[in-house]
Amino acid sequence: MTMPGPWAAYRAVTQDRSQLKPVSRGVVRRVLGYARPYKGLVIAFLITLIATSILTVAQPLVFRVIVDDGITVGDAGLVTWLAIVIAVLAVVDAGVGIVSRWFSARIGEGLIFDLRTQVYAHVQRQSIAFFTRAQTGALVSRLNSDVMGAQQAFTSTLGGVVGNLITTIIVLITMLLLSWQVTVLALLLVPLFLLPARWMGRRLQLLTRQQMQDNAQMNAQMTERFNVAGALLVTLYGRPTDEDQQFSERAARVRDAGVSIAMANRWFFTALALVAALATAIAYGVGGNLVISGGISLGTLLAIIALLAQLYGPLTALSNVRVDVMTALVSFERVFEILDLPPLVSDRKNPPPVAVPDGPLSVEFDGVSFRYPTKEEVSLASLESVARDVEEAEPTEVLRDISLSIEPGQLVALVGPSGAGKSTMVGLVARLYDATRGSVRIGGVDVRDTSLASLHKSLGVVTQESHMFHDTIEANLRYANPEATPEQMRAALEQAHIIELVDRLPEGLDTVVGDRGHRLSGGEKQRIALARMLLRSPRVVLLDEATAHLDSQSEAAVQAALDNALSGRTALVIAHRLSTIRRADLIAVVESGRIVETGTHEELLSKAGAYAHLYETQFA
Ligand SMILES: Nc1ncnc2c1ncn2[C@@H]1O[C@H](COP(=O)(O)OP(=O)(O)OP(=O)(O)O)[C@@H](O)[C@H]1O
Ligand SMILES: [Mg+2]
Repeated sequence: MTMPGPWAAYRAVTQDRSQLKPVSRGVVRRVLGYARPYKGLVIAFLITLIATSILTVAQPLVFRVIVDDGITVGDAGLVTWLAIVIAVLAVVDAGVGIVSRWFSARIGEGLIFDLRTQVYAHVQRQSIAFFTRAQTGALVSRLNSDVMGAQQAFTSTLGGVVGNLITTIIVLITMLLLSWQVTVLALLLVPLFLLPARWMGRRLQLLTRQQMQDNAQMNAQMTERFNVAGALLVTLYGRPTDEDQQFSERAARVRDAGVSIAMANRWFFTALALVAALATAIAYGVGGNLVISGGISLGTLLAIIALLAQLYGPLTALSNVRVDVMTALVSFERVFEILDLPPLVSDRKNPPPVAVPDGPLSVEFDGVSFRYPTKEEVSLASLESVARDVEEAEPTEVLRDISLSIEPGQLVALVGPSGAGKSTMVGLVARLYDATRGSVRIGGVDVRDTSLASLHKSLGVVTQESHMFHDTIEANLRYANPEATPEQMRAALEQAHIIELVDRLPEGLDTVVGDRGHRLSGGEKQRIALARMLLRSPRVVLLDEATAHLDSQSEAAVQAALDNALSGRTALVIAHRLSTIRRADLIAVVESGRIVETGTHEELLSKAGAYAHLYETQFA
């Protein structure tokens, strides 16, 4: 079996009940659906469990025959023969145990695999809104623990519940058949044990939960502080003694809870052993007298006592079956909840690709209004308890009635104060979100009516904070275009004016960048991101220019890189550089979610309106 008796009992009474809630009926049916591919294995597993239970009973019964018909009678041949039977039984028992574990591992790990791959695929296709809500750490650990919990349903719970049930029934029936008087008397102690065990279990649940929370806090403090960004903040603003104090308080709580848990633990097992010993004493006392008076044989008494030892663990574990099953189902339900979360942005049925002929495409905003989705629309109820609850105001419209038309090959610059809605506009073209009202069209087709894959294939997006995976430069470039040849990569790096830097690095294209790799400067990163975008040969470029002021040399390099990146393509650029604004075919000034002015640099300057003001304060 998967768990020895006393431990199964311990696990059963200490299981955390805080997350328990009634599960809907559909969940059970769905869980069975997941079990279906493993039907054969489950049946085989159950057979091994029954075999184990029968073997548990068989040994004491053979003892009985050895004592009564062998030793007492003086039949040496029978004794030897039965001793061999016992040895064979032991070997068979060991073999069945191993086979049983193989079945349960195959089922459990197979199930983890199924759930994990499904959840990964589903979460990956969630809209950006989902990720702005979910804390990555909480999400990942929750997914892990739920997937594990669901797996437990099949190995521990199925194995534990079914195994314990079969064992208890077979052992009890055998004992009652051997001597119902001794059995009943010995079992009188069961309630005496179960009550304190349940009380202890509740206490342990509380302590364990408390310790987990304290541990999580302690770990959070470490992960927050022990990384470059956190350490920098602590170094510059921190108060090391206060930090020490806070940490040691948390660590002390973990220590105290640890001591209490260890003691409660000991009490539980001591009580279990003690009750079993007392029951044995009763059995010896009552049974011994019965043997003397000739009511039962000596072998029967010994068999009953051996069986008694097998009874208490499974019995205790069974007293908590309901909790076991519920816990497993709740884990499943939470995994299902994630699988059922529809992505906010998704393809409609059989969408056609973006307009087919090659070359730059037009981009059009037609009366677009937009508000960011609310918590209810994107987040997961079961994850809310993990995320900190923030009071939220009614979402306001971030974009209001935006109309803007960009002809194929044109460069349109968006300018405006911080928070005006420029990045949001760009996000709508890439369908990170869908417009609340109005429509965004690319090549004359509403972005919602084309396939996401083809839309993203025709777009080249460079965000303000270009992210690189923790991998080599080559791998990061290849992510945009897996088929890119080394020559194409070099050409892209050359066009992005970053080839000199890459050539200077000792490991060149194999240099690892990103979180813990080589640190690239802001300007360098932007140019690598441009090269990555160029490798995609997009038909429309969406670019959020970095605000950082570069020295004139890097400025010139970025400028030249941009010239290459934008030529022959439709471009929507959130411009922070005068040079970009100057070459734009059209400038749109965005303020508080509206387009307040459009025109060329000269036209707008002569208007002496919003743009002229912005120009004087920001660009001049
Ligand atoms: N994920 C989000 N959820 C809710 N509100 C958001 C979200 N992202 C941005 N906002 C809000 O939408 C408004 C417009 O933001 P946006 O990022 O489009 O501004 P921006 O013009 O790009 O500013 P900046 O020049 O500083 O980058 C801001 O008020 C911002 O607080
Ligand atoms: Mg922005």
